[in-house]
Amino acid sequence: MINVQQLCKSHGERKVLRNVTASVTAGETIAIVGPSGGGKSTLLRCLNYLETFDSGEITIAGFTLRAKLRSNDPLLRSMRQSVGMVFQQFNLFPHLSVLDNITLAPRVVGVGNQAVPRAEAEATAHKLLTQVGLADRASAYPHELSGGQQQRVAIARALAKAPKVMLFDEPTSALDPEMRDDVMHVIRDLAAGGMTMLVVTHEMQFATDIASRVWVIDQGTIAEDGPPAQVVKDPQSAVAREFFARLR
Ligand SMILES: Nc1ncnc2c1ncn2[C@@H]1O[C@H](COP(=O)(O)OP(=O)(O)O)[C@@H](O)[C@H]1O
Ligand SMILES: [Mg+2]
Repeated sequence: MINVQQLCKSHGERKVLRNVTASVTAGETIAIVGPSGGGKSTLLRCLNYLETFDSGEITIAGFTLRAKLRSNDPLLRSMRQSVGMVFQQFNLFPHLSVLDNITLAPRVVGVGNQAVPRAEAEATAHKLLTQVGLADRASAYPHELSGGQQQRVAIARALAKAPKVMLFDEPTSALDPEMRDDVMHVIRDLAAGGMTMLVVTHEMQFATDIASRVWVIDQGTIAEDGPPAQVVKDPQSAVAREFFARLR
């Protein structure tokens, strides 16, 4: 589902991703952890080409991305139909209801490049709202919702494209602790349902619960890649050992 080959990315003189090579099979959930500034967000943003890269190649959901594609390349539009992304900040459209937030892209951009009629888009949105535990909030506006509820709407909105891959960048970091559980519950369900996902998180218990593999990213490389039990209990790299020791 995802294959990354020798991905390199710099910001000026600073190398942010150094020869990252990795692959993810359909249905896997990868939890990505590691110190701040290590390159986790940059990797996720490269995967759906929110950021360009300098060299290397990414294949994701059947689309092959190379360095320096033009931002209006039709390939990117097609790829983004298959790849959903959820950010730390929920980024809902403030002037649209929950229902309209979810149905806007399917109706205008389409699903699989096919515009979805309003009634169908709304039926799907109601199903997704039920899935994220917000069946009764379709007509609410973002400012009427808690952070945790807004984030669950953001997840429903990403799922409305019927993506093959979901990317989550610290989906609970902006939330008060009591709201994190609801969001983590939704992500857990998605993992159990077989969605292919990359989840950057600082919640170690959550990471080890949902992940088929954990990546520890530091200084632009995947320093550690293995099943959660092994990575957390018996890390092979000095970087991962230090990272987990600091958490204890
Ligand atoms: N737009 C940018 N310009 C310059 N440096 C950047 C930019 N975005 C990220 N960086 C640098 O890239 C490195 C990796 O950042 P990031 O991917 O956000 O790390 P993480 O998500 O692991 O905290 C950091 O050193 C950060 O300062
Ligand atoms: Mg980050």
